[in-house]
Amino acid sequence: MFETLPGFRDFPPEACSQRNHLFRVFRNVARAFDFREYDAPVLEPLDLYIEKSGPEIASQLFHFQDKGQREVALRPELTPTLARMVAARVNSLPKPIKWYNIGEHFRYERPQKGRGRSFYQFNADLLGENSVGADAELIALLCGIMQTLGLGENHFALRLSDRQTWLLFLDHLGIKPENRPAILDAIDKSERRKPEQTLNALETACPGHGEEILSSIDEIKKINNLDVLLEKLSSFGSEGQQRAKDWQELLNLLDGHQVAHFIKIDLSIVRGLAYYTGFVYEAFEASGEGRALAGGGRYDDLIKKLSGNIDLPAAGFAIGDMTLSDCLQKNGLLPTYVMAPDLFLICGSEQRMSGISLVAHARKAGFAVSHPLKESGFGKQFKDAGKSGARYALILGEEEEAEKKVKIKDLKSSGEMTVDQDKLIQELEKLEEEGGIGAPS
Ligand code: HAM
Repeated sequence: MFETLPGFRDFPPEACSQRNHLFRVFRNVARAFDFREYDAPVLEPLDLYIEKSGPEIASQLFHFQDKGQREVALRPELTPTLARMVAARVNSLPKPIKWYNIGEHFRYERPQKGRGRSFYQFNADLLGENSVGADAELIALLCGIMQTLGLGENHFALRLSDRQTWLLFLDHLGIKPENRPAILDAIDKSERRKPEQTLNALETACPGHGEEILSSIDEIKKINNLDVLLEKLSSFGSEGQQRAKDWQELLNLLDGHQVAHFIKIDLSIVRGLAYYTGFVYEAFEASGEGRALAGGGRYDDLIKKLSGNIDLPAAGFAIGDMTLSDCLQKNGLLPTYVMAPDLFLICGSEQRMSGISLVAHARKAGFAVSHPLKESGFGKQFKDAGKSGARYALILGEEEEAEKKVKIKDLKSSGEMTVDQDKLIQELEKLEEEGGIGAPS
C-alpha cells in the first residue's frame, strides 16, 4: 500500500468540503473588497526564489532539474510569481492592482502541527499604491475574512510592526546599513530561539556589540503602546516624525475599517522573508498559541529587483489553510456539511429509461439527483435512498408511468404526493419553499 508523502494531505469529500468552505469565504470577502482573482504556475524557475524570498525559504525548496535541464522549483510562496506577472504587464494594468489567489504551495519543512510540506494559501496583494491606505485596506480584508469565518477578538489578534521603524531604531543604535539584514533576521528568529543563539547571531553580525544590541532589542520589542512608540519615533528627527504620522494614520484608518480591536502593536514581528520594507504583520490565535494564521506586509522594492527598472510599490499578505482550519476546528467553527442528493430515483425495471430522463430533467433544473446505476428491487432501492440522505424519493412505477405521473415521497416526514411529470420541477420548487410534504395522518 502506498501512503501520502510526509507533510502531504489527502482531501476525501468531507475534508474537501471544509476546505471549500474556507475558499468560498476567501472569494466572497475578496469580492466585497473589489479584489480580482488570478492564477499562476506551481512550477517556476529555481532562481526566482533563491534571492528574492531569503535564505529561510531557499533552504526549504522542493527543487529539481527537469528533462530540459532547467533548474525548477515548486512554488513555496506566491509573491515572487506575482511580482514577475505584474512586472510583465505593468503598462497595461490599471492601478491600483488589487489581486488575489487561492493555491497550493510547497515547502520542505519538518511536518508538525500547523506545518506541512504542501499547504494552501489565500494571497491578496495591492500594487501601485504606496500610501498607508493600501496597508489598511489589506489588513481590513484579512480581518474581514477572519470575522466572516466566525472568529472574533477572543479568537485572534493581528500583531502589527514596521520594518522602517526597526531600521530607524537600528540606525539610532549605530548599526551600519550592511549589517541590518542580519540583525533583522536575528530579531525575527529570536522568538523561536534561545537567547544565547540570538546573542551569537548578533555577535557574528556586529562583533563586540552583541550584548549591547541584544538588550536594546529586548527593550524595543517590549513597546506595545502607540504613545510610547510615537514618542520614541519623534525623537529620531524628521524621518522618525514622518513614520510616527504614518503609524497614526494607519491606526486611524483601521479604526475607520472597524478592525482596530484586532490590532496589537508588537515589534517582535519583523517577518522572515527578505523583501519586506514597511509595515508588516502576522495574525495569531488570541491565546498566542500555535504558529501564525497569516502574515504579510509592504515590499516596495521587490518588483524593481525582479524587473531591473520598474518602480511599483506593493503590499500583501497570505493566510494559510492549515493553522486556520485548526483554529476554526478548535472553536467549533468548521461547518460539517451534509453531503446528500436532493432527490433519489426509485423505479421499476420497465421504467428505467423514463426514470433516467426524469433524473436528467431534474439535474438540468439544478437539483442534485442520485439513482440506482443498475436494476434492483424496490426494497433495495428504498434502502439505498434512505442511506443516500436524500430528502425526497421520486417513485416511478408502472401505474405512475402509464399516467405520465411521478410520486414524490418526503423521506423525512414519510408524506407523499403524486404529480404530473411535466410539473415535477415546479412542484419540487414549491416544496422547497413550503419545507416539505406533511406527514400522513
Ligand atoms: P508566510 O508568512 O511565509 O508569508 O506564509 C503565510 C502563511 O502561510 C503563514 O502564516 C502560514 O499560515 C502559512 N504557511 C507558511 N508555511 C507553511 C507550511 N509549511 N505549512 C502550513 N502553512 C504554512 C508568505 O508566504 C508571503 N508570500 C505572504 C505575502 C503575500 N506577503 C506579501 N504578499
